[in-house]
Amino acid sequence: MDQGVERLAIDGGTPITTEAFPTTMLGPAAMGEEEVEAVAAVIRSGKLFRFLDPENSRCTELENHFRAMTGCQHALAVGGGTGALICGLVGIGVGEGDEVIVPAYTYIASASAVLICGGVPVIGEIDESLTLDPRDVENKITPRTKAIMPVHMRGIPCDMEPILEVARRHDLLVIEDVSQACGGMYKGRRLGALGDVGCFSLQQFKVMTAGEGGMIVTDQREVFERAALRHDSAMCFWNPEDTVVQPFPGENFRMNEMEGALGCVQFGRIEGILTRTRAIQKQIRDGIAGLPNITLHEPPDPEGDCGISLAFFLDSADSAKHFVKALRAEGVPAGSMYDQGIPDRHIYCYWEYVMKQTSGDAHGWPWTSTRHDASRTYHPDMCPRTLDILGRAVVLPISQTFEDRHVALMIGGVRKVAAALAS
Ligand SMILES: Cc1ncc(COP(=O)(O)O)c(C=O)c1O
Repeated sequence: MDQGVERLAIDGGTPITTEAFPTTMLGPAAMGEEEVEAVAAVIRSGKLFRFLDPENSRCTELENHFRAMTGCQHALAVGGGTGALICGLVGIGVGEGDEVIVPAYTYIASASAVLICGGVPVIGEIDESLTLDPRDVENKITPRTKAIMPVHMRGIPCDMEPILEVARRHDLLVIEDVSQACGGMYKGRRLGALGDVGCFSLQQFKVMTAGEGGMIVTDQREVFERAALRHDSAMCFWNPEDTVVQPFPGENFRMNEMEGALGCVQFGRIEGILTRTRAIQKQIRDGIAGLPNITLHEPPDPEGDCGISLAFFLDSADSAKHFVKALRAEGVPAGSMYDQGIPDRHIYCYWEYVMKQTSGDAHGWPWTSTRHDASRTYHPDMCPRTLDILGRAVVLPISQTFEDRHVALMIGGVRKVAAALAS
């Protein structure tokens, strides 16, 4: 196998391409004059604060879009995905010492949001879907468990049915982290609408962006009100209508009108982007199906997958690394998911403040709390299946701006490397 890599990567065989691939989802190509005009109009109006003119708020309009997309009764725009998770967790009542099961493979913010609420992130294994393994969720439940946080990583819908079933059986709440999968579906339902609360990030590298931003959706009025109170210390003044929740202190996770306006234009692009990424993913999938020694990733709901990347697995981490090295030598962008020589903020073993149970100077929670299980420990090899799966995975990024030649080059590169490494 080494010989194959040498021949391809170093020995000067002509690479498939030397052309740069567009590898980010968003960027200038996915934004146009409409976005510029929408933001400029807000600036010209002088109304940047969302509660200044509630009747004409672009933030409210964006919330309405998310309500319509998900079918949820309530939506709350916030300043970021982490803020959305914090408000969502507060919304479902997560507080000091409450355990929340988060996947071992997710952006660190999923765990940090739990800590900020005084809760304890309990790390669950992923399976070959690359998302939370419902069977391991069951193993991680304790009397302190309050909620499960499935994260739809890389646009892949988690297998929500068994997760919801475990939650129902153990009387747990479900908070979906939809940051990386806006517009994705699971069995005909929009992601974010399946659990008790759904939280989105609208940061630049997501399916759609508001520059920075986030969104919370829920069907439960009380969850919405608690989230809204947490998102603004003066919420009870902006919205003095009848509420079911008594006011409590919040902070500032408000979205502003420029973000709202940008988000509204971007929202209109979601379906077009996903139609294109799904078509590209299918072409690549078909083009590399059946190659020797590689197993294609199978999402829990192929129809609902956002199509923003395509993963496949090799038999060992070494093989995956060789494969990636050879693909890159061919000019094809690809990444292995674990052990790339740099700490990765998406893999639990690199989450230093979780592994070491430190809160810096911020506050002692949850580790000093008497409501926390003091015998709980963390260590970098606590989820070996996750590290094994990520180690064997190779990921091809997909952008809606790929042209047919990029798709052909990607397929050609994977086929060439697979053939060389099999010989
Ligand atoms: C899975 C996941 N959760 C949460 C976040 C946090 O979102 P934000 O950066 O908007 O705070 C991100 C952002 O990258 C993410 O990918």
